[in-house]
Amino acid sequence: MSDIEVRTAEAAEFEAVQAVFGGAMMFDATPDDLGRQLFEPERTLVAVDGGEVIGTTRALTRELSVPGAVVDAAHVTGVGVRATHRRRGVMSSLIGRQLREVPEAIAVLWASESAIYGRFGYAGAAWGIGYEIELHRVGPTNERIRPGELGELTVDDALKELPPLLRRLQAQRPGVSGRSDLGWQKHLQDKPDERNGRLARQILVHRDEAGTIDGYALWRGKMNWTATGPANEVNLEELVAPDPTAYRALWQHLLTMDLSAKLSYGYAAVDEPLQQLVSTPTALDRRLNESLWLRITDVPRALQGRRYVVPINVVLDVTDDLIQSNTGHFHLTADGDTVTCERTDAPADLALSITELGAVYLGGRPLTEFAATGRVTEQTPGTLNQTTAAFGWPVAPASLEIF
Ligand SMILES: CC(C)(COP(=O)(O)OP(=O)(O)OC[C@H]1O[C@@H](n2cnc3c(N)ncnc32)[C@H](O)[C@@H]1OP(=O)(O)O)[C@@H](O)C(=O)NCCC(=O)NCCS
Repeated sequence: MSDIEVRTAEAAEFEAVQAVFGGAMMFDATPDDLGRQLFEPERTLVAVDGGEVIGTTRALTRELSVPGAVVDAAHVTGVGVRATHRRRGVMSSLIGRQLREVPEAIAVLWASESAIYGRFGYAGAAWGIGYEIELHRVGPTNERIRPGELGELTVDDALKELPPLLRRLQAQRPGVSGRSDLGWQKHLQDKPDERNGRLARQILVHRDEAGTIDGYALWRGKMNWTATGPANEVNLEELVAPDPTAYRALWQHLLTMDLSAKLSYGYAAVDEPLQQLVSTPTALDRRLNESLWLRITDVPRALQGRRYVVPINVVLDVTDDLIQSNTGHFHLTADGDTVTCERTDAPADLALSITELGAVYLGGRPLTEFAATGRVTEQTPGTLNQTTAAFGWPVAPASLEIF
């Protein structure tokens, strides 16, 4: 590392940053206008060797739903190091500095490999479910959809109609990232060379009796004709339906598409209600995937940022090797919307590291899971179960997109 400088990126370095990340991930990262507009150089760190960018990490300014609230969260992406410079500590320098500098109290990311981020205090905070559904096995769905309830939108109309639905979902479910206007444009961009043989994206919407759009699905079809006949594929990219009728109608439509044999979807929640809508839930062929990794960068602000399902009054002994200000005893009290978290000299009830605190932050994993392996220790009898209950949340966290 001695010859390598780590510094904030400059606006003109967007192409270089893209090239390093694309090269590391092995995809064509040819920059486009929207990508350029979404680039935040002041929130990007580069590692430079002999004037050449050889490592990058970016933080995107976005909001995230957490239990009972929506907060700012650094959305970390673009982590890559040129293959010629790997295993020399470049990523460690970039990620360490980034975590110490981001102004948000939490950082989140999707990991390309599980083994990478634990060493920096990140923890898997949400699981996701991937479906590969063989449609003939799921059995009949009984929903009756009235004419006029379903329709399609153009991208221009979708840019106006869909954002409020995502915000409604954020109020229901933790783990959902917000999108700016530009972020929506990027999300709905449909470059022909990125379709992988699938058709153009369809923007399917459901309307309530008053004609108001109350749910949508983004999906693509792919024609397939086998020796035994039609076997088309439906690739669902996103389904947001905070309203139960819209949820049922959209799923029924997608599960009963003519000539189709398969439906795939990569962003279901572990408590996805879909299983109630089919006669054979095991035929959904669910796979548990890693989803959001989360790192708390500021303990008091992070813990005050969310809500707790039952009142809590606990002193946590937290250790953090990377961010010293997170190490110490913190007194957390919560009752409804009144939440306080302050440093204290009082004896601790529970001891844990920043990693376990990150893992339970979105309410998707219980503290007891970590107590079972000794990573959380109870100093005051009874506080483990109380704190586990308080940190839990009735709706499982789920992230809808890899950013
Ligand atoms: C992952 C990547 C960024 C690591 O960069 P790097 O500069 O080689 O990482 P470092 O040298 O700082 O490694 C720090 C530690 O992490 C370990 N590590 C790095 N990459 C790892 C991986 N993919 N799996 C497991 N451990 C890994 C190193 O062995 C090292 O461990 P040590 O301190 O015990 O020796 C780089 O290999 C890369 O660009 N990979 C392809 C793109 C990618 O996966 N990016 C992440 C996107 S989410």
